[in-house]
Amino acid sequence: MTTASTSLSVLFVCLGNICRSPTAHGVFATLVASKGYSETITVDSAGTGDWHLDHAPDQRTAEVAKSKGYDLSALRARLVTPEDFDQFDYIIAMDNANLSDLRAMQPEGFSGHLGLFLDFCQQSPSEQPKPQEVPDPYYGGEEGFELVFALVEEASMGLLEHIESNHLQALRS
Ligand code: 4NP
Repeated sequence: MTTASTSLSVLFVCLGNICRSPTAHGVFATLVASKGYSETITVDSAGTGDWHLDHAPDQRTAEVAKSKGYDLSALRARLVTPEDFDQFDYIIAMDNANLSDLRAMQPEGFSGHLGLFLDFCQQSPSEQPKPQEVPDPYYGGEEGFELVFALVEEASMGLLEHIESNHLQALRS
């Protein structure tokens, strides 16, 4: 990954790849497309756990996303693999457990960015202080899925601004 590269790739990772990372995948890919970067930025998502391989996003996740205008129905869960570290410039974890699982599989030569999604969040989407992690909504209620969505939208904007200023401006000039 350098500022001279002509493309950039982003992988969002959570535990099951059916709630948080598919939300991030759908929201960030839509934002990328709306800014005209679809040819430049590749977006994908994966999970560290294998319980839901090939499953579509959780129905509660899909419904919240649909209510905000995002269609996640084409996405299918997959496991994160060591090869992902060769393919992706940004590997973005939803919580600290995901991050430590990813750090454990990170090959020595990985020169991309591995970190937490909410590090790119510039402000809290609610009255509450900005959390450090996107909380796992799977065993909770509806409000958890709404919170995931709000955090993902805010962090997606911050991540794209970061990429624009660190990578894309050099391409355009
Ligand atoms: P995600 O949520 O990591 O945001 O996709 C979960 C989905 C499934 C499980 C846990 C979290 N599970 O235990 O099956």
